[in-house]
Amino acid sequence: MSFVTNHLVSLILFFFFPPGRALKTACLGSVMRLTVDKSLAFGSQIEFDAINGSQNLPLTPSLAVKCGFSVNSDPWGNTNVFASVLNCFAGNENDREFDIDMRVRVRGINKAEQDVFEVKKSCSYNQWAPREILCDRNYMEVSVNRLPGEITALKTQPKMPKDQMFGTDTLSEAITSRYNIWRMVFFTPKQKAMVLEDALNTGYGVTTTRSRLVLRSGFDMPETYVEHVNGVPMKFIRVTTYFKKQWSVTMLDTVAACPTGGLVFTDELITWNFPRFNPLMSSADSKILGMVMGMDGEQIDSAQMAAKGYSLTTTDTFIVMTLPIGGPDGYYKSHIVNGQYHIRYTIEPMLEILWSEGGFDSTRYKVLFPIKTPFMPRPPQAVDYTNVDQRVFDVLLGTFLHDVQLVNITFSTGVLTVAEANARGFNVQEHRFQNGSKAFRLQVPFSDTVVVTTQSGLVAMVYTLPLIFGFMILPEYTPFSYPASVTVTLQDIILPTLSGACDKERFHIMISNGNLGKNFNIMLGTSDLTPERQAEYDVKENGTHILLAVPFLASDVAFELMYPSSLRARLDVLLWDPVKKWSLSDFSLACNFPMTMTECFSNGSMSALAVKVESVSQLVPSQLTLTDPLCKPKFSNDRFAYFSFDANSCGTTRTFYDGVLMYQNEISMGDERPVSLQAKKGVPSSPPYQQYRVTVSCFYKRNDTQTIAFFTKPRESEPLPETGFGELQVILRLAMGGSYRNFYVEQDFPVGRYLREPLFFEVELLQSTDPQIELGLENCWATLKPDRSTTPRWDLIVDGCVSLADSYETVFHPVTPDGVHFPSHMKRFEIKMFAFVQENIILKDQMFVHCDAVLCDINQTNGICKRQCSSPIPLKTAKKVRRDAENDQFQRAQLSSGKIVFSSS
Ligand SMILES: *[C@@H]1O[C@H](CO)[C@@H](O)[C@H](O)[C@H]1NC(C)=O
Ligand SMILES: *[C@@H]1O[C@H](CO)[C@@H](O)[C@H](O)[C@H]1NC(C)=O
Ligand SMILES: *[C@@H]1O[C@H](CO)[C@@H](O)[C@H](O)[C@H]1NC(C)=O
Ligand SMILES: *[C@@H]1O[C@H](CO)[C@@H](O)[C@H](O)[C@H]1NC(C)=O
Ligand SMILES: *[C@@H]1O[C@H](CO)[C@@H](O)[C@H](O)[C@H]1NC(C)=O
Ligand SMILES: *[C@@H]1O[C@H](CO)[C@@H](O)[C@H](O)[C@H]1NC(C)=O
Repeated sequence: MSFVTNHLVSLILFFFFPPGRALKTACLGSVMRLTVDKSLAFGSQIEFDAINGSQNLPLTPSLAVKCGFSVNSDPWGNTNVFASVLNCFAGNENDREFDIDMRVRVRGINKAEQDVFEVKKSCSYNQWAPREILCDRNYMEVSVNRLPGEITALKTQPKMPKDQMFGTDTLSEAITSRYNIWRMVFFTPKQKAMVLEDALNTGYGVTTTRSRLVLRSGFDMPETYVEHVNGVPMKFIRVTTYFKKQWSVTMLDTVAACPTGGLVFTDELITWNFPRFNPLMSSADSKILGMVMGMDGEQIDSAQMAAKGYSLTTTDTFIVMTLPIGGPDGYYKSHIVNGQYHIRYTIEPMLEILWSEGGFDSTRYKVLFPIKTPFMPRPPQAVDYTNVDQRVFDVLLGTFLHDVQLVNITFSTGVLTVAEANARGFNVQEHRFQNGSKAFRLQVPFSDTVVVTTQSGLVAMVYTLPLIFGFMILPEYTPFSYPASVTVTLQDIILPTLSGACDKERFHIMISNGNLGKNFNIMLGTSDLTPERQAEYDVKENGTHILLAVPFLASDVAFELMYPSSLRARLDVLLWDPVKKWSLSDFSLACNFPMTMTECFSNGSMSALAVKVESVSQLVPSQLTLTDPLCKPKFSNDRFAYFSFDANSCGTTRTFYDGVLMYQNEISMGDERPVSLQAKKGVPSSPPYQQYRVTVSCFYKRNDTQTIAFFTKPRESEPLPETGFGELQVILRLAMGGSYRNFYVEQDFPVGRYLREPLFFEVELLQSTDPQIELGLENCWATLKPDRSTTPRWDLIVDGCVSLADSYETVFHPVTPDGVHFPSHMKRFEIKMFAFVQENIILKDQMFVHCDAVLCDINQTNGICKRQCSSPIPLKTAKKVRRDAENDQFQRAQLSSGKIVFSSS
């Protein structure tokens, strides 16, 4: 059982009692182990003193080697101090009881004072073999029994071999004290002799105890040498010590050898080969009596070995110990080698062998053998757990040992500490695995500014999260970094879209921006929307949408077709990316906008607007003319030409059909010959010449209430008819006398007349200034009632001739040019006042006169207006013929007079 005493001394009056776990001692055969837990040492510097009587001697490396101490710390401050019980300062009672005193000094960083703990430990060891060899990490120690067993041993001890003895019989205790050492001969393997003083000064430890000679040497002392034993390098120290007493000299051979190699590593296993037969064994009779494995200087039994996967076996040449890498008796540590992350496993097994060399002599051989595996690269792996649906990058970077700390992360925008990254919502977490390893997890939304986005094609966005993880390895604060990058490509771009509608004056365009914001240019027609025109088009933006209203006559609008009273106009809108030159969305909207193209006035005057349509690109509006090339636009610009002209000018034609009067002219390019471009060789000739012809028509039609109104006849064969509307007014008037100077007006009716008193009627086409029109009277008749279709009825003019049945003859009066502008626009006739009589009874003393008037071309050679009235036509037959000859839809002005009453007195 180990016995722990903690004598605690503070140099500055404070006494500290560290918990029992912080300082522990153990007697492990020929060594004492002092364990200092990292809880005591953490963040502090820890030092040890050996105690020589009242003297405290700091345990320097050279003192440790010389006097039998070793100190071994892991990186976190757990420290093992091994002290040979034969160390320079141990109190030794009959080579059985050993008192070992030490001091532990703990100095905090930046602290002047230190805490001091004194450790006292007593160990018993009485299993001394005639030769004991101890290989510690920094020294080799050999001790041999220096006196014949029968003289010194209280118990029976094995005899030393004869060849190592010289004059044994005569030796006494006195002569073999340390002060009798005459000289020492080192074999390197050359011989080198030294007196004791020189050996001690060189750094060798040489002591004698009651029964033993102890020799100690560091591995790198000048008189050591290397020998390969079955391929395993071993360090040797071989010394013969001569004791002198008066006339006799006694000689003792001591040899120690410790392995410095023999390790084989695989990824999982450490194999330690120790030569089974070695030069320490003097004869081939050597026999291994026992073999024990230990850890950190402490023996372990076979059950513990099995539990931990250790094995200790022998082959013909080796004693073989195997240890799995990663077992709990060792530890892993992180390292950076050439900037890369590596790990290394460290473990300190012990091998103890007891062999006999035939007969009595035996050797106990004990090796404390620290093993470090080579650096094993462990490049961290970044595992991408990115959740595309939630649009969050999720990266797990691992694995690292427990001694690695994540310090900061460098994003595309800069460095953030872990705390800052968490404060920003990146959720940086440390994941611990059961074996103590760890990994680091980071979550970053796609939308964060640290994510670099690049568009790939029209609708795909590449999201990249470039990262550099900054780590520290504790406790030595070794920095290292590891770059990682995760990338996701999503087809998640919503392109801007266009829609639109028209009212009577404007195109209304709505742009929905898509999800990249307004990163596009708006092209209207063929040019980008400039800031000046934004105001003109009443552009409104609200972050997600843009609205614009473009008047249909705006310069960005293309004219497709002209209709009689409307214009088909089209607005082309293109949204494009000015950086990548990509077309994002295009849209065309064509609408018919009401627009007066032709106006027809009652006086025969006409106006027409010619529009440059996009299919006739070479058109120059100012060069357009009417049929008469001298008739040019009243005004024009680059898209319009406006004409205004009289019906009897500019080559206007006049057509009468079905009683409708149509004026027509044509707008065209003055020079109709194709422009001949000089054709170069290989260059395609110019596109086919586009003709531009616009027919301008005005239709005039009878107006039932005494005017002639327009009539539009559909003319499907002509693509661009320009149709106007007009009215020709015709009136029937009753003159006050044969001079036709004064006329009754509406308010004068009823007008009174005596029987057979003449009535002078005039029918006139008003307003028109066209001298080529002639007004004709087809039929005139009188009725008793206002309705022109009632009976009784009395014909006055039939088919343009006076009725022969009228006994009171109707007389046409020629129209003389005096005071009349257009005589052909007028007809005058005279009738005698009469009364409707039935069976010689005057039916009623009133009558109404009606006429049907027609318009004729003055150059026409037949028809109503030119009818020859020489021969009398029987009434009924004539009517029949007329109806057959003329179309019922013949358009006539239906004229009626006001009431004329019979004045009886
Ligand atoms: C230990 O103390 C003794 C007696 O004071 C002294 O002779 C000896 O040199 C000391 N040993 C060391 C290693 O200082
Ligand atoms: C610890 O466990 C993790 C996860 O199972 C594994 O990736 C890692 O290699 C282990 N580390 C060691 C040192 O065994
Ligand atoms: C980030 O961490 C690395 C590794 O520990 C370190 O070298 C670097 O200085 C740190 N950067 C900042 C800005 O703190
Ligand atoms: C922007 O205007 C559009 C069209 O008027 C409308 O649909 C949308 O809701 C508006 N958006 C905002 C953020 O006001
Ligand atoms: C015919 O009438 C229109 C509209 O009233 C007028 O502008 C034009 O000058 C007139 N033409 C003639 C020849 O009187
Ligand atoms: C005929 O002319 C009159 C007077 O100008 C007008 O009030 C009437 O509406 C016209 N009738 C038709 C059918 O055009």
